[in-house]
Amino acid sequence: MIALLCLIFIPRAIETNKLKKLGYDKEAIAAIRDLKIQKKLIDNQWYSDYLASCIKSKTVNLDYLQLYTVIEGDKYLDDNDFLMVGRLRDKGYEEDQVLNLYKNLRFVELTPLLVYDYQLIEDNYIEDCHNHPENNRSAFVLSGSYYTPYKNTAPADSTSVDMLVNKTYYLDSSYVPSQLTDLSNKAGAPGTQLGKEAAEAMEAWATGGMEKGVAFYTTSSYRSYEAQEKLYDAYVLNHGQEQADRESARPGHSEHQTGLTVDVCATGDESKEFGDTTAFMWASTNCMDYGWILRYPKDKEDITGYEYESWHFRYVGKDLAKAVYETGMTYDEFWALYLKPWSDEANKPSEAILASTDWHKIGKEPEEAAAETAEASPDASAEPSASPKTE
Ligand code: DAL
Ligand code: ZN
Repeated sequence: MIALLCLIFIPRAIETNKLKKLGYDKEAIAAIRDLKIQKKLIDNQWYSDYLASCIKSKTVNLDYLQLYTVIEGDKYLDDNDFLMVGRLRDKGYEEDQVLNLYKNLRFVELTPLLVYDYQLIEDNYIEDCHNHPENNRSAFVLSGSYYTPYKNTAPADSTSVDMLVNKTYYLDSSYVPSQLTDLSNKAGAPGTQLGKEAAEAMEAWATGGMEKGVAFYTTSSYRSYEAQEKLYDAYVLNHGQEQADRESARPGHSEHQTGLTVDVCATGDESKEFGDTTAFMWASTNCMDYGWILRYPKDKEDITGYEYESWHFRYVGKDLAKAVYETGMTYDEFWALYLKPWSDEANKPSEAILASTDWHKIGKEPEEAAAETAEASPDASAEPSASPKTE
């Protein structure tokens, strides 16, 4: 009998001792046993204060235990991070690189990586970020360059309203949006055209402005591949290729070919840059209610690849425009995190995480988002995290 008790209690005492040595207290050890993760933690020597506290509160996601060990200070993990880990893996990052990135970077510094080239030596990027601690969602500037424009190009993944067209994703030279619609003289200069839905949204936005005493209109909208080619060539001729690439898209790579994009100016203030007019104040703070986003924001050239364009707005639909605005991300980052098709399905996080990070929930009240999560994934055990990470 005594021998039997020894057989049970001695290994348990040894295990307790090992967990204590790692740093876990009594309460954490009880939770570790409930979660049946003692062997994993001991074998891998995994501990962090953050991991211990998430174990105690039983909020820990057991699929990402190691990730918790690199989280320090006021950083925390939520489902957006687990989605991000999947995206980094899908981009080619190895597990040790993902841990290194998570140990050293904030979420706001991770999202641009989804737009950039794969970084074989991620430490260079980390160091650059550390040299720019002031970077945040409003301004992101680095010293180095982590993206090679027009190098690894690919066709735009769709021609729907959420399509991404940038220096990576292009439209075929023959692509013409369906149902091109003339803008009225209220909303656009003669000859300006957009796809039907975007045209209606432009009319509504311009009318909304007029009701507030603000007048602006479209100066350039849909541009064919050939028109963009002529425009880009003129930029190169006048400014040289390097500067041209900061201001004008190469043919096939312009959002104007989507029929979902406008350049606008303030009525009566045509000589001024739109950003310097009072119309801009209203237009840029209300655009999302009409489905539009400012596509090339100030101090985001290192992500979008273009200088600030206060006049260039892109139609993505109301819900998406509000969600993009809410995150403060560029559309390039937002798309790469929330919308991009997966290269390898194996990198996709669980359905519960996908459901709780669905972009449709961004900006919604927690109860609303929770109801949607329950609908989408009845057995989802994780807490829904409708809010994007803000740091
Ligand atoms: N000016 C923008 C980037 C374009 O040419 O589409
Ligand atoms: Zn434009």
